[in-house]
Amino acid sequence: RRLLLINGPNLNLLGTREPEVYGTETLADVERLATEAAAALGFELRCVQSNHEGVLIDAIHEARTDCAGIAINPGGLTHTSVALRDALSGVALPIAEVHLSNVHRREEFRHHSYVSGVADVIVIGAGIHGYPFAIAQLARLAQACR
Ligand code: DQA
Repeated sequence: RRLLLINGPNLNLLGTREPEVYGTETLADVERLATEAAAALGFELRCVQSNHEGVLIDAIHEARTDCAGIAINPGGLTHTSVALRDALSGVALPIAEVHLSNVHRREEFRHHSYVSGVADVIVIGAGIHGYPFAIAQLARLAQACR
């Protein structure tokens, strides 16, 4: 059994990008934590990061045939992308949306998410610890819909 972890635009810069907002841990740290959490629950984790919306949409479509759930931090696309939302609702898998920062304490334009309306679980403001939590929730949902 496999889960998919997607990190969207600019999350490759984690650790150096606005560390006061996003912390000093890197994307590699995030993917390691999430992979360990998945393994502990008997799941393999496929990790994808891209700065390109179409690459993310393709990864979501591919997950349809071989993954049991998707954890996604869509980065800035959270607030702009109907296409990403449509891809997520189109695959009909359990979805967990993750944001490192508390987007509701930040600028107004970060308060709306196109993804939240198709997510089963939303984890906001827990930093990198939100990822293993999201993975655990997906594992639970994936068992429930077997
Ligand atoms: C983010 C929040 C978004 O508003 C922002 O564009 C990001 C990161 C977060 O993890 O807190 O790139 O998704």
